Amino acid sequence: MIPMEQRTLGRTGRDVSVVGQGTWQLGGDWGDVAEGDAFDVLDAAVDSGVTFFDTADVYGDGRSEQLIGRYLENRPDADVFVATKMGRRADQVPENYTLDNFRAWNDRSRANLGTDTLDLVQLHCPPSGVYSSDAVYDALDTLVAEERIAAYAVSVETCAEALTAIARPGVASVQIILNPFRLKPLDEVLPAAAAAGVGIIARVPLASGLLSGKYTEDTVFGPDDHRTYNRHGEAFDQGETFSGIDYATGVAAAAAFAELAPEGATPAQTALRWIIQQPGVTSVIPGARSVEQARANAAAAALPPLPQATLDAVRELYDRSIRAEVHGRW
Ligand SMILES: NC(=O)c1ccc[n+]([C@@H]2O[C@H](COP(=O)([O-])OP(=O)(O)OC[C@H]3O[C@@H](n4cnc5c(N)ncnc54)[C@H](OP(=O)(O)O)[C@@H]3O)[C@@H](O)[C@H]2O)c1
Repeated sequence: MIPMEQRTLGRTGRDVSVVGQGTWQLGGDWGDVAEGDAFDVLDAAVDSGVTFFDTADVYGDGRSEQLIGRYLENRPDADVFVATKMGRRADQVPENYTLDNFRAWNDRSRANLGTDTLDLVQLHCPPSGVYSSDAVYDALDTLVAEERIAAYAVSVETCAEALTAIARPGVASVQIILNPFRLKPLDEVLPAAAAAGVGIIARVPLASGLLSGKYTEDTVFGPDDHRTYNRHGEAFDQGETFSGIDYATGVAAAAAFAELAPEGATPAQTALRWIIQQPGVTSVIPGARSVEQARANAAAAALPPLPQATLDAVRELYDRSIRAEVHGRW
């Protein structure tokens, strides 16, 4: 295994690789992935130094968790920290966020992942009010006391939700969209998380692949790929697919971003490198779909830091092309 920089994931106290592996695409919403292909991707990530997987109970309705559970059974040498999520298999109403439901959801994830104690469970973008419910945090503390979970966290849509959660003493980490097309977390969320000792997991780091610069206005995605059917939030939260940016705007901005890639780095690697050097970020979790992508993403951890001129150019590109579409919304 190639060693990779590790950082402590907030209040979990556990170290994770700065580049992790998102596994939504191993479960569903991105088209079919055969089990053997999924294992090859996970192998490529682990062999490249990845020690952090992000999954959810809802990805493929449990398939992503089950694949990870089976994979880790066969790779006892892989010391992987697995963050899962709960809440999206139920109706999205605050009344469903109860201790009894949490126990049932955790037990299903424990069975899927083949573990007694889940490393980390994140509330999966629940209704906004859930982040400020004392009863919810009391229930989460109970799950820790029962050793169903080692720690809990939140995955959020908005910066306001992140700030509400960071103020709670038991929240270990916050998962939020952060990439060169989504800069708002830099304003308040990252400084607040760093001050509180809360970890930051950066999701959708490639803006669903846009930041690789490989798509054109004519690119066609599969019929069962959310990049076809959720462009405007038709099936689930707007803001996740392509980071909430109009596709044509994103393709044009991605071409400008590609110009900023240093020699020896692809645009996708440049985006990942940009994210992991933002103060306060713990880990970035690109959704690699192939062995080559998993290896290339892991290699971004070893790139030299981007110079200030590149950071300034990313900010200018955002202000010029993207900010008006996303900054006020999330
Ligand atoms: N609400 C939540 O909590 C939530 C929501 C969304 C995501 N997530 C988590 O965040 C993870 C990452 O987000 P994401 O998968 O939505 O988006 P992403 O990582 O921004 O984009 C994934 C896409 O980027 C492309 N890609 C990946 N590596 C590449 C490389 N090295 N070179 C070129 N292209 C590359 C692939 O596109 P092609 O298929 O076109 O090759 C892949 O499908 C998910 O897997 C999941 O674990 C959580």
